[in-house]
Amino acid sequence: MAVMVTGGAGYIGSHMAWKLVEAGESVVVVDRLSTGFDWAVPAEAELIVADIADQDLIQAAMREHAVDAVIHFAGSIIVSESVADPLAYYLNNTVASRSLIESAVRSGVSGFIFSSTAAVYGSPAEIPVREGAALLPESPYGTSKLMTEMMLRDAAAAHGLRYAALRYFNVAGADPEGRIGQSTEGATHLIKVAAEAATGKRDHMTVFGTDYPTPDGTCIRDYIHVSDLVEAHYLALQRLRAGGGNLVANCGYGSGYSVLEVIDAVKRVAGRDFDVRLQDRRPGDAVAIVANSDLARRELGWSPRYDDLETIVAHALRWEEILRARNTATPLRRSGVSAA
Ligand code: UFG
Repeated sequence: MAVMVTGGAGYIGSHMAWKLVEAGESVVVVDRLSTGFDWAVPAEAELIVADIADQDLIQAAMREHAVDAVIHFAGSIIVSESVADPLAYYLNNTVASRSLIESAVRSGVSGFIFSSTAAVYGSPAEIPVREGAALLPESPYGTSKLMTEMMLRDAAAAHGLRYAALRYFNVAGADPEGRIGQSTEGATHLIKVAAEAATGKRDHMTVFGTDYPTPDGTCIRDYIHVSDLVEAHYLALQRLRAGGGNLVANCGYGSGYSVLEVIDAVKRVAGRDFDVRLQDRRPGDAVAIVANSDLARRELGWSPRYDDLETIVAHALRWEEILRARNTATPLRRSGVSAA
């Protein structure tokens, strides 16, 4: 029995792979390394460098490793990029996921856990938002993920696949033990960008939009620590293996912070000031989005450990320092759990 982790060389997927290996699972990572890093994958996991849409290869790997569950992270994740290049998002997210779901069905995989997103709600009428709220994505990114949720629902009904779609709010932070973190080049996510500014990787950062209908005019988000998110997936895996039913659940903490509040937190925790410039709104951004996560807590027994903005920021900053200190002349290598 093994778990296939797609996108397992990327930010969230690599944290998942480490968690699974630590829990004694056999792990097969599939990643084409377009944005991920082979060194982020624990040495104990098998790394297959491939496209998730390569059905022959994926089905052979599923059979060879007796994969009973897929945790599907691979995909494109930048809201503004999806507005500029929607067809790339439908290809990388929706079309590739369709292939992967078909491979899972054909190979007799019984459980499927999918990285969905809060972006499926757009700007909800009420926050914190519950799973039953209207699904009105405001970007092709959100739509591409919603379409995948729908395919999973229908494939589950027709073919007996069981699934969990976890709708992530804003994922941030890094492994509390400092082994991995968000290493993406040219990252666009707020806490990552602010951490780069605080540690000197960039000389300034920009706030996109200060005229939103919020108390300080900037967008509000619910920031969740990557390790808590990974824990929710692990619990979902156990639930599916125990015969639990399909689940679509929010993963966030239920607390909203504005862009300016987050930047203040980064400056405070880093103990450093940096240049912040104000600009117009970024296309595709929703005004305010905060999770109601009662369902995940109830159905998965999920109990977050790092529900604190300063802790998230501190871990993100520490990872930024680790990346900075590494000598880029020495290629990073994959390492194992025991050596960490
Ligand atoms: N922001 C800035 N400056 C930056 C980066 C971001 O002002 O340099 C602002 C954005 O405009 C937005 C907020 O910070 O208002 C958060 O932006 P992110 O890029 O960090 O994240 P998004 O909310 O756009 O999207 C993220 C994930 C999605 C997920 C969504 C859920 O990328 O996958 O959170 O809310 F769906």
